[in-house]
Amino acid sequence: MAAQPTLGILTLYLNDRKTLEEKPVYAKMTAIGRKLGLSVFVFTPDDVDESDDRIHAMFYDSAARTWERRWVRFPQLIYDRCRIQRSSRFDRLLAFRRKYGHLTFLNRPLRNKWTIYRTLSKVPAFESHLPATRIFEAPQDVQTMLRKHSLVYVKPINGTGGRGILRVERMKDGSYAVQGRDHSRRIVSPRRVPKDQLPAVLRSWDKRGDRYIVQQGLHIRLPSGRVHDYRMLVQKNGEGEWTVTGCAGRVGPPRSITSNLHGGGRAVPMSTLLREWIGGEERISQIRRTAETLGVGVARHLERTYGALCELALDLAIDRDGRVWLLEVNPKPAREVFIQAGERDVYRTALSRPLEYALWLHRQRRLARTGKSRMPAASAGAGFAARSPLSGSAPAEFGAAD
Ligand SMILES: Nc1ncnc2c1ncn2[C@@H]1O[C@H](COP(=O)(O)OP(=O)(O)O)[C@@H](O)[C@H]1O
Ligand SMILES: [Mg+2]
Repeated sequence: MAAQPTLGILTLYLNDRKTLEEKPVYAKMTAIGRKLGLSVFVFTPDDVDESDDRIHAMFYDSAARTWERRWVRFPQLIYDRCRIQRSSRFDRLLAFRRKYGHLTFLNRPLRNKWTIYRTLSKVPAFESHLPATRIFEAPQDVQTMLRKHSLVYVKPINGTGGRGILRVERMKDGSYAVQGRDHSRRIVSPRRVPKDQLPAVLRSWDKRGDRYIVQQGLHIRLPSGRVHDYRMLVQKNGEGEWTVTGCAGRVGPPRSITSNLHGGGRAVPMSTLLREWIGGEERISQIRRTAETLGVGVARHLERTYGALCELALDLAIDRDGRVWLLEVNPKPAREVFIQAGERDVYRTALSRPLEYALWLHRQRRLARTGKSRMPAASAGAGFAARSPLSGSAPAEFGAAD
């Protein structure tokens, strides 16, 4: 029997004690992989022995429910789950991606929120779904946006998990209501800021030298006063096609301007929220279709622009008129939202699709080598050509768990 194809899940330690995020998720993927005929292991750039092109990888033993280390050759396929970190570990990841860019990656790094916005804003079909967005260079940029939109969000371009976000609302008396989530995700309670003091408030927001975007704010407060939005997971399937795996609603905790689960938000089925927010079933299906078309379109376009991609999660807002807005694109999505929303089947599909896609990609690559592929080699995974994100010097990735 031929050896099973191997998939290496590339991740990063979170600290010097070699703690890993999402280990239980990788354990589940290992078990699903085994059933599908794919051998799965987990590694970080720090486990690579470059002198010998070997990896001291982590294997999950489903029967014994334990992890163990084994030395292995490089995997045939790599699934990159690395999220941005401010550490030397992240620098070593960039070096790894550069050095081993010729290997077959299911997904290449995406870019920060501002670059993604600019890329998507060039496509006419996405125009009506993108909130007005500009880069923050000076407080004036926020004031200009506030003249046109009564509500504005200020967000770090490499932010994740709802950190460092400010919400500014223009009030009838000319002052502003300002509230947010600071860089440690603590709730910043609302306060009134007189017009002439807004620039000082904005200048003092950033203490870490981050860059920010200024974005038209959507009115997504439920009658309860809590904000809500949607998390849509778009993935490649076992036929190499983009599909929407699921979409769940998220409701923020009281006094929060964000809905992120790690910030205390809770997940609910999309239909529950839409019934409350929009009403009629016919409108709801129409909105779902619009959102799904947008999701698949965005995934396709970003793959074409930045190279191989196997999944994306979109943060969507749906306003009172039923219009669908794209708030953010997450290249390294968590899937727990579906468990919390009570959608176990969706969760399971969300775990198995990248593995089914990996097997499809592996087959395509073999067919391409023997000249039998229906696909041009370049579209059977970007392992054939290392694309530009690998050589970029700026952090080429905003990870986003949530
Ligand atoms: N333009 C906006 N209008 C209304 N709410 C927003 C807007 N942008 C972000 N939010 C809220 O803040 C949350 C976090 O913002 P997001 O852009 O997804 O950044 P992060 O990478 O930190 O998740 C969103 O899920 C949403 O609840
Ligand atoms: Mg988000």
